[in-house]
Amino acid sequence: MNEMISDRELYLKACEARDASYCPYSGISVGAALLTASGKVYTGANIENSAFSPTVCAERVAFFTAIHSGEREFVAIAVAGGERGKPAKPEFPPCGICRQVMSEFCKKDFKIIFGMEAFSTLKELLPHGFDKDFIV
Ligand code: THU
Repeated sequence: MNEMISDRELYLKACEARDASYCPYSGISVGAALLTASGKVYTGANIENSAFSPTVCAERVAFFTAIHSGEREFVAIAVAGGERGKPAKPEFPPCGICRQVMSEFCKKDFKIIFGMEAFSTLKELLPHGFDKDFIV
């Protein structure tokens, strides 16, 4: 499958992925849709925990699922989040830990779509980031 889907379609997949969120503590459901270079889409949703810190964001669920499936080249991710059962907020940018995870596997021009009309590159959202180039 080499035909890439549009940003809008990817964002709508992130919106749909919110349905799988487990968020009894914050009530914030988040969905992510990650597009690979081959045109495949991996989705994820946030999974919370009563001890709070083990909570995993939607973006990392999508990334780790893709990585575990052998994927290594990524083009874009869409993120949608907001109060559970309500439409996604106009903008829901990824947290710093997720940006760091993205920097492990993605190039600087990796596209991050965080709203129907909001997008940026990884370099813009994580300037001067620490990555494997600093490890000799
Ligand atoms: N969350 C995400 O899934 N992705 C982000 O980038 C930011 C936050 C989740 C974590 C938690 O379950 C809820 O949103 C509220 O912070």
